[in-house]
Amino acid sequence: MKKYKVGVVGCGGIAEGKHLPAHQRGTKTEVVAFCDIIEERAVRLSKLFGTKDAKVYTDYKELLKDESIDIVLVLTPNNMHCEITVAALDAGKHVLCEKPMATSYAEAKEMLAARDRSGKVLSIGYQNRYRSDALYLKQLADKNYFGDIYYAEALAVRRRGVPTWGVFIDKEKQGGGPLIDIGTHALDLTLFVMNNYEPAYCVGRTFHKLNKQRNTGNAGGDWDVDKFTAEDSAFGFVVMKNGAVIYLKSSWALNIADPTEAVTTVCGDKAGADMLDGLRINTVLEGKQVMIKPDLRGGAILFYEGGGTNPEDLELAAFLRAVSGEGKLYVTADQAAVVTRILEGIYESDKTGKPFYFE
Ligand SMILES: NC(=O)c1ccc[n+]([C@@H]2O[C@H](COP(=O)([O-])OP(=O)(O)OC[C@H]3O[C@@H](n4cnc5c(N)ncnc54)[C@H](O)[C@@H]3O)[C@@H](O)[C@H]2O)c1
Repeated sequence: MKKYKVGVVGCGGIAEGKHLPAHQRGTKTEVVAFCDIIEERAVRLSKLFGTKDAKVYTDYKELLKDESIDIVLVLTPNNMHCEITVAALDAGKHVLCEKPMATSYAEAKEMLAARDRSGKVLSIGYQNRYRSDALYLKQLADKNYFGDIYYAEALAVRRRGVPTWGVFIDKEKQGGGPLIDIGTHALDLTLFVMNNYEPAYCVGRTFHKLNKQRNTGNAGGDWDVDKFTAEDSAFGFVVMKNGAVIYLKSSWALNIADPTEAVTTVCGDKAGADMLDGLRINTVLEGKQVMIKPDLRGGAILFYEGGGTNPEDLELAAFLRAVSGEGKLYVTADQAAVVTRILEGIYESDKTGKPFYFE
């Protein structure tokens, strides 16, 4: 069986922690090229995860010249997602790009245009959609179990969890802070469960309240106050064209007791659900309010064969099925572009102090 040849651009934490182990566990790919502007990172991961003759690059344009490469993983800081993805698609490669899709909606649209002219597959790394709770919630929503979902909360709130490695706190390189970094996951999950991709307007506020503090109790140790140019918290209220609303809360550091990350709460006119203590379905049964806690210990509801129950493995399996033409993408770039569009709207509203209207 022919294995797809994969090239990786960006050999940092997400490459080592998520993507490359999934490729190593799978049987359908081999990773033949590694690129990082810091060469030793590419060398190190090529030894851990690459084929014997894997190539190492410091310039992604050189990697893209290798015609044998079928798939490129774009795993760099956010400000390079668009440029590298467009170049890879134009070079005839399928692309799995990490979240968020881009730092602006204009960039996301450039990526969609490149996908359309190349005819190649483009997906974005929203692996939370493949968690067993998320798969089950989506299945219920698609069967109209909740009815019309008119209120939702997208939650990405840490108590003290500022990422101190890489360039996460650098607004220029990432396009923002927790909103674009973790708010993006919660919003993606929420829109997907609601199956609602038509925003009308939003209001947002960002905060720089804790990012200049020291002795922070941060999980990964104190951050560098001089480098922390992104917001530490951001909150948004989004009104969709059908009148539904989404309250998006995101923070890397907030004085709350209970962190809630990559979770959604949805309320419809028939039932609701949240993920605040595992997945809970809130409904009425025989005249009594009940909370159903699905037993997901048996594993995920598998939509994709051969992927186990690990979200990263399911993400890869779904992507490969689309690449081979055997299935449709589970995370489409069009959906991811709407996530980016709404995040941009929240940042814009914060800048102007006014609601942001989507055209
Ligand atoms: N899906 C998730 O849950 C999740 C989790 C963490 C990070 N991410 C995303 O993954 C991306 C990378 O995050 P990370 O944690 O791996 O960061 P990281 O800093 O650990 O790694 C990024 C790597 O990219 C390299 N790089 C920078 N510019 C480059 C370029 N032009 N060409 C080649 N390499 C370049 C850096 O040298 C670094 O090694 C970000 O977009 C982030 O949002 C996703």
